[in-house]
Amino acid sequence: MNRFNQYVNDLFVWNEQMRHFLHSEQVEQDAELWQQLDEFTELIENVNQELSTEQLLSLQAKVEHIHEKMENYFARKQGQGVGTIWTEAPKLSPGEHTLPKLPYAYHALEPYISEEIMRLHHDKHHRSYVDGLNNAERSLKKARETKDFSLIKHWSRELAFHGSGHYLHTIFWHNMNPHGGGQPKGLLQDEINRYFGSFAAFKHQFSEAAKQVEGSGWALLVWSPMAGHLEILQSERHMQLTQWTTVPLLVLDVWEHAYYLQYKNNRAEYINNWWNVVYWHNVEMRLEKALDNTPGI
Ligand SMILES: [Fe+2]
Repeated sequence: MNRFNQYVNDLFVWNEQMRHFLHSEQVEQDAELWQQLDEFTELIENVNQELSTEQLLSLQAKVEHIHEKMENYFARKQGQGVGTIWTEAPKLSPGEHTLPKLPYAYHALEPYISEEIMRLHHDKHHRSYVDGLNNAERSLKKARETKDFSLIKHWSRELAFHGSGHYLHTIFWHNMNPHGGGQPKGLLQDEINRYFGSFAAFKHQFSEAAKQVEGSGWALLVWSPMAGHLEILQSERHMQLTQWTTVPLLVLDVWEHAYYLQYKNNRAEYINNWWNVVYWHNVEMRLEKALDNTPGI
């Protein structure tokens, strides 16, 4: 393959990655970014002969322009404190957490999860964890400054409760998608089959873990870097029964605030329906990132 073909080929791959990324991030508002990528796709799909230097330079300029747009997009997202697994998490000072936006519309998960639940769950409950985490961090900063640690037990509990509440909800929103459902692919599929035997066996255990959480809590699919395999855990409230060093991949909120308005006390029906909105692409990406960052022992 000559260098020109190689360059165009690279552009194809890059363009595909960008489209895939935008889709996974649900960039619904930034229509301009999508339009530019659409134009770029059309342009490179019609390249079937050697371009002149001038045409090549024009192509390069377009790539650079889109690249700059993407960088602005990342910077904006980080400014909003989203810090998803694909963007580098911002380095926050004590008390600077912000409520991330939902990656889709409030009604997008209907009929499985109602708009009313999503509004309440995201705007009220999740916000209270963000506020609680900021408060705990600021209070501990003050304790360091005044050297008064008489309330450290209280603030440590608040830090764990609200911090876990904030982080798990942030993962939870991205774990779901209106284009979700079905089964995972690739590496995640392989790891599920290797450890649980089959997708059906995994799904059965995860659903039972969620149904049988005592009181409020979560079911979580995690990656254990120490053991080098997946695991299913339960968490009571937000932070109890966890296994340190594991990386959450797929989380299911079974607090009553996540389903009661729509499903009343039928947690099992909520869990059965929830599988229709599981966004496996997001879970697959999380596993790949977890494996990339495995520090070893
Ligand atoms: Fe929740």
